[in-house]
Amino acid sequence: MLKSELDTPSLILDIDIFEENLKKMRDFVLAHGKKLRPHAKTHKCPEIAKRQLACGNCIGICAAKLAEAEGLAAAGIQDILITSPVTAPWKMKRVMELNQKIANLQVTVDNVEQIKMLAELAVDKKLHVLIDVDPEMGRTGVAYNEALSFGRFINGFSSLVLDGVQCYAGHLQHIVSAEERAAASTYLMQKGAEVFNALKQEIPTCRIFTGTGTGTSAADVLIDEVTDIQVGSYCMMDAEYLAVEHQEVQYRPALRMLSSVISANHSGNATIDAGTKAIYVTPGAPPQVIEKEKIRKDMVYSWDYGDEHGHLMFAPEISMRAGDRVELIVSHCDPTVNLFDELYIVKGDEVIDKWEITLRGCCK
Ligand SMILES: Cc1ncc(COP(=O)(O)O)c(C=O)c1O
Repeated sequence: MLKSELDTPSLILDIDIFEENLKKMRDFVLAHGKKLRPHAKTHKCPEIAKRQLACGNCIGICAAKLAEAEGLAAAGIQDILITSPVTAPWKMKRVMELNQKIANLQVTVDNVEQIKMLAELAVDKKLHVLIDVDPEMGRTGVAYNEALSFGRFINGFSSLVLDGVQCYAGHLQHIVSAEERAAASTYLMQKGAEVFNALKQEIPTCRIFTGTGTGTSAADVLIDEVTDIQVGSYCMMDAEYLAVEHQEVQYRPALRMLSSVISANHSGNATIDAGTKAIYVTPGAPPQVIEKEKIRKDMVYSWDYGDEHGHLMFAPEISMRAGDRVELIVSHCDPTVNLFDELYIVKGDEVIDKWEITLRGCCK
């Protein structure tokens, strides 16, 4: 089947660019003596997680939510870190079931009640936990200066094993200046490294210092204590990431929204079939039209036509007709992927496969 025969709007993934991104990240991380633990929150697709593992230098896959982790486990993935705290008592039983099911489950923790509940339930198999340390972002995690006593508390439970520390500075990932981004991340990750060192000295099982997104990956691998990085977006990329200066390695947009012009009756304007229901709205980073691997600076996308329709604006001398195909780099890959059931895998103009986005909507 040809790409031009696909129904629209459809999410497509260019296999060559995708594989190039995987290899670039693998080689870069390997060259710095670190491991990869790619985040499945980006792609929500077990087939991609398997390919990331197969590409090498990977110690596991991250999941943002318990349901995502369960989906990865159902697909046969054995090494999973859940990067957000699980707190609901009724979910704790599912954590234990998952722990029984796979070889290596790790969960992040950031509060005392959660630890007590997990410790009480982890009777048949010890549960491995990582302390989530807050890099002054305020989203999740304990403060740097509380992490040591928190670690001691965890270590007091024989059913829990403290594996390490997670420190993810999400608020830094899209700082436009590569230099400023690197400096801000180095400062916060060094503070995390100090916490990790203190814990490691007292608690020998504490051996992992993980964190990092695509934006700060190049800076964070330079920190000695970092053991593995949880990058997500690098495999697909999006307009948000393309708008920031890259550090050392440039990952390319593998993910595209394939859409069609459905009306073009006004000069300088066209309406396509991909509006807010197809492309997640990220203010400040509109989708970019891409043609023959070049971003079309002469076309601007706007969400102002609402749910079903995307608005393309261009100079009056450009002519667009109903039925024309338009490829867009989406604004933010993660929540856009979450809107679709499948990814069409393309090589050049050919559709060579279809991968199910089975973890789509697994946000519980
Ligand atoms: C805890 C955690 N780790 C890693 C990532 C991956 O970050 P990125 O997609 O910027 O590579 C995210 C993304 O939000 C995250 O929340």
